[in-house]
Amino acid sequence: MMKDSVKEVAEYFGKRAARYQLSQETCPMARSLDLIPYVYVIDGVIRQFSRSPGDLRIFDAFGGSGFLSRSFAHTEIRFTIADCTNAYKQDGSNKHEWLICPDYFRAISAERAGEYDLVFAHGGLHHVYVKDNAGLEDETSVGLQHQCVANLSRLLRKGGFLVLADIPDRPSRVDAHGSDISLIDTSMAIDLFGNERLAFLRSAATDFSLSPSLNNTCHTVESIFRDSTHPGSLRRFFDEEVARKTPNGHEACFLDFERIIARAAKHDLCLMALIPYPGAWVFETANQAVWFFREMFGFGQSMPPFQEDSQDYVVKSAISDTLGMRSVGDHLAVNWGVSYAIFRRD
Ligand SMILES: C[S@@+](CC[C@H](N)C(=O)[O-])C[C@H]1O[C@@H](n2cnc3c(N)ncnc32)[C@H](O)[C@@H]1O
Repeated sequence: MMKDSVKEVAEYFGKRAARYQLSQETCPMARSLDLIPYVYVIDGVIRQFSRSPGDLRIFDAFGGSGFLSRSFAHTEIRFTIADCTNAYKQDGSNKHEWLICPDYFRAISAERAGEYDLVFAHGGLHHVYVKDNAGLEDETSVGLQHQCVANLSRLLRKGGFLVLADIPDRPSRVDAHGSDISLIDTSMAIDLFGNERLAFLRSAATDFSLSPSLNNTCHTVESIFRDSTHPGSLRRFFDEEVARKTPNGHEACFLDFERIIARAAKHDLCLMALIPYPGAWVFETANQAVWFFREMFGFGQSMPPFQEDSQDYVVKSAISDTLGMRSVGDHLAVNWGVSYAIFRRD
């Protein structure tokens, strides 16, 4: 019998939610580089629609503990954070709306068709899958992912953007830097990114800058933060480490971006860029990085709060063997980097 994932995934993240959230709250700067494509797209949409940040409406699908909305808390931007799991602590402000969506965003996309300027989906779509008795059903899973993208597209107004950031099932063959992303050159990147984050990254890499275009910034990030990690390393980290060595495991249908992109065109989504983004996660120390990964991905028992003298050789080698860690200035970078597909709704 075939079963879709949503109930199982909600239970799975219900078990992981507290540790996931603690990792994000303890190291709020670690995933700063993940935010850069969002900064450029938000800026582009603000200018395209002549809106101020406070008038923007952003739908954060698979929003989890609110990584994106919390990261832009210094701005006026308002988010709707939508997730199937209800175990995360909300941010307590009235600025954002938190929704539980157990139906792949079907009902909300009918209720709020065309209401959002931007839809973000960071790291969630690979949890959309279908299983039968033999395990994951690849073709049906891809079909369900397409339906999910169609629902997210419906939420967008014409000219709005969908950013789909996720783990590819294989290294991308699309040349990111050949893509047409000129439209999202930036004028207020620093305000959106925040001086505190900029200072944090500059303390790791003095030559880090937010340049006028996303392409140039991607090149800077690549040259500073990336070493020679194999492009499939993120998949290996999940399949070989998180799936096998954590008590809750990890099931996923990683994204076939080429098929998603081909089908997205049928839902009025025009691809602006596909970026195999080289953003690392950045920490104060190696021990902090190891603790963060332990809590975020649920290795062993929880060990709160973080203490600099804590040692965990198992998680440390899980990270170094698959992803790679290295010093950047006085900081420690762990190679990461999901692919970002940026679509405009026509
Ligand atoms: C890896 S977490 C990412 C959370 C957040 N976007 C971040 O980057 O920190 C994936 C999230 O997607 C949610 N999720 C998975 N499948 C979902 C579905 N079908 N509908 C809504 N949320 C889902 C999970 O509950 C989880 O919070």
